[in-house]
Amino acid sequence: MKTSAIADANIALVKYWGKRDQTLVLPQNSSISMVTDGLYAHTTVEFDSKYNRDIFSLNGKNIDTKSKGYEEYVGKFLKIVRKLSANKKHVRIQSSNNFPTAAGLASSAAGFAALTAATNKAFALGLNKRELSILARQGSGSACRSIHSGFVEWRRGGKMDGSDSYAEQIADAKYWPEFRMIFCITTKKEKKIKSRAGMAQTVATSAMYKCWLDAIVEDLKNVRQGIIQKSFSLVGKTAEHNCLKMHSLMLTTKPPIIYWNEFTIRIINKIIELRENGLECYFTIDAGPQVKIICLESNIPKIVRKVQEITGIEDIIITKPGQGARIVNKHLF
Ligand code: DP6
Repeated sequence: MKTSAIADANIALVKYWGKRDQTLVLPQNSSISMVTDGLYAHTTVEFDSKYNRDIFSLNGKNIDTKSKGYEEYVGKFLKIVRKLSANKKHVRIQSSNNFPTAAGLASSAAGFAALTAATNKAFALGLNKRELSILARQGSGSACRSIHSGFVEWRRGGKMDGSDSYAEQIADAKYWPEFRMIFCITTKKEKKIKSRAGMAQTVATSAMYKCWLDAIVEDLKNVRQGIIQKSFSLVGKTAEHNCLKMHSLMLTTKPPIIYWNEFTIRIINKIIELRENGLECYFTIDAGPQVKIICLESNIPKIVRKVQEITGIEDIIITKPGQGARIVNKHLF
C-alpha cells in the first residue's frame, strides 16, 4: 500500500544552531519558527515484499543507499522506524520539493516532516503529534517543527533520551493571518556546508557560542510573547537580531562559515533603507544566501516593488503561516 504526505518548510524566528547530542539530534537551545504555506515536500512511501532493498529518490534522482549522505539521514531514520515497527519489509520512498533543495530553504525540515507523516501511516505506528515531532527531529532537527501548523516552538528539553525535546504549537495558522515572509531566492545552487556539519564546527570552535546561549532565553520570551500579542515590531526586531547573532557564530567559526552572497547583502541594505523610510520590515537568513523578509500583508506590494529594483534576484515567493504535515491521496509513483 502506498502512503503519501506533504509538509511545508518552516523558517526560524529564533534559530537552532548547535546540538547537545548528535545521534538523537538534541539541540543546545529551544527555537521558534513559522511553518510556511507554500514551500513543501511531497513524499510517497511504499513497503512491499516485491522490493529486495530500500529505494530512495529525491527530486527524481535515485540516491545511492550506500552513500554517507543517505546513511546519515534517511538510512538512520528508517532504522528508527523499523525499531518502532514489527514490519521489517523493504521500502520505496520518493520525495520531491517544490523549491530548491539544500539551498538554505529548510528542505530537510519539510522532507523529514513529510517522511515522518507518511511512514507513520505506512508502518501503522500510530504516533501522536508529540511522538511524530520526536521522530521527525531524529531525521533533521528543524523537521520536528514542520509537524505542526502556524507558529511553533521546539523545546530544548533536558532529558538524555530526548523524550522531552519536541515541538509544540504556539498559535495556529489562522491566528495571525496578516503575518508574511517574502522569500528572496538569490541563487538556487546547493550550499557547500550543510547545517549539520556547520553547526557542529561552530559549537566546537566559536568563542561567541556562550554569548549566544546566554541571550537565547530573552529572545525566545520576546518572540513567544510577540506572537501571542501579535506585536509585529517585537517579533520582527528580535528575529532579525537573533539571525544576525547566529551569523556572527558562523563567521567566528574556525574555519569561518559564510553563507551570504552579494545579493544577500544588497537585500539586507534595502530592508534597512525601507525601514529608515518608515516601512516596517525585517529580515531573517538561514544556512544559505536566501533572505526572508518578515512583514505584514498590507506592505507586500511596496516591499516587493522595492526589492525587485535589485537586479539578479532569481525568484520571490510570498508565504504566510501554513499547515502542518498531512496525509494526501496523490502519490508520486
Ligand atoms: C539555520 O535542522 O537542517 O535553519 O538537525 O543537523 O538536520 P540538522 O540541521 P537542520 O538545521 C537548521 C538550521 C537553521 C536554523 C533553524 O531552522 O532553526
